[in-house]
Amino acid sequence: MSKSALPIGVKESPSNTKPMGVAVIGCGYWGTNYVRIFNELTESRVVAVCEQSPDRLKEVARRFPNVYLTTQVEDVLSQPDVQGVVVCTEATSHFNVTRRLLLAGKHVLVEKPLTTTSTHAEKLIELADSHSATLMVGHTFVFNAGIRKVKEYVQQESGRVYYLYARRTNLGPIRRDVNALWDLAPHDIAIFNYLLDSSPEWVSAIGGKVLGNCRDDVGFVSLGYPGNILGHVHVSWADPDKAREVVVVKSDRRIVFNDLNGPEQVRVFEKGVSPVDEEPLNYGESRFQIRDGDIISPRIEPVEPLKNQCRHFLECIRTAKRPVSNGMHGRDVVRVLEAINRSVECKGLQVPVEDKADYVHPNVDASEAPECSLR
Ligand SMILES: NC(=O)c1ccc[n+]([C@@H]2O[C@H](COP(=O)([O-])OP(=O)(O)OC[C@H]3O[C@@H](n4cnc5c(N)ncnc54)[C@H](O)[C@@H]3O)[C@@H](O)[C@H]2O)c1
Repeated sequence: MSKSALPIGVKESPSNTKPMGVAVIGCGYWGTNYVRIFNELTESRVVAVCEQSPDRLKEVARRFPNVYLTTQVEDVLSQPDVQGVVVCTEATSHFNVTRRLLLAGKHVLVEKPLTTTSTHAEKLIELADSHSATLMVGHTFVFNAGIRKVKEYVQQESGRVYYLYARRTNLGPIRRDVNALWDLAPHDIAIFNYLLDSSPEWVSAIGGKVLGNCRDDVGFVSLGYPGNILGHVHVSWADPDKAREVVVVKSDRRIVFNDLNGPEQVRVFEKGVSPVDEEPLNYGESRFQIRDGDIISPRIEPVEPLKNQCRHFLECIRTAKRPVSNGMHGRDVVRVLEAINRSVECKGLQVPVEDKADYVHPNVDASEAPECSLR
């Protein structure tokens, strides 16, 4: 039914509009999830999949018949019924692939990290603006109902945020183009930025090549946010304890997000310590008040975060609305990652997060990387 043929008073909804044509470029471990979800949603259909590996293409053909398959990005650019494209290739190829798509007038959802330099991120933002195209970045946790619940607690006026920390550890999967910091920390930086509605001013980071690999497989990062709020992120590809945890410590409560704890993804400890508004005992020595209350597990809506993200992408294309995780959010995360690189090179020196970092990135194209590790 065309838009003008809708009966008066009937609001146009995704179910009564033509499904939007979507293509996915890069259909490895994560890209397959996009193909599944955009096929499941009533408001979209997967028109094309572009994947360089013939074996992976065969697997896509088996699972998703009726999808046009190609190894060439050009074939996606020239498909008029493809409006939105997901770029789910390795990080070092995000810029080149996304640039071509935006030039061809497509709306693009790029996986994290948006690019491997902030200069490239800026170029994509400019291109998207000049083509009136949606540019979104796959900061999936911003679409996680648990993280959204944490944000509600963070924003409550009672209590002040003291600090946040995150742990993202597992045994791999080890990547061949970027190190563990560029692979894993984008999630936590994006989460912190989202929770605090700001970006860090400085970072101090150390990395380690504990596996004797050619790039850092563990990292410890401190982040300084406005208002003296501290952040800390620990990432590792070499830790048998799989952790996906974010903790926010406020003056009146501690909020814990544990993505691996299904029934109790968020726990709120109504406990904290804060200075009492009285004359200090001595200079620099305040009185403190300890608050000890309940432990709460709020109900979290069980919706797949990636599905929320895909829906949001379609909605942004349909309504020309700016995504919750747009190009600028992606660029802000890349700027922090560049500062992390500089700090790691200087053995943990505290360095500012630059607005315009003209930095040559040590990450390499996956196809040129030495075969020094396996996933
Ligand atoms: N948001 C999340 O939670 C999340 C989770 C996992 C991965 N990711 C991101 O998704 C991206 C892909 O990760 P992955 O684990 O699926 O990697 P992967 O190596 O399994 O898949 C990448 C695929 O892209 C293909 N490819 C590369 N260049 C291509 C090109 N020019 N045209 C067509 N195909 C091309 C490769 O053949 C490969 O199959 C990365 O950016 C990663 O950071 C995000």
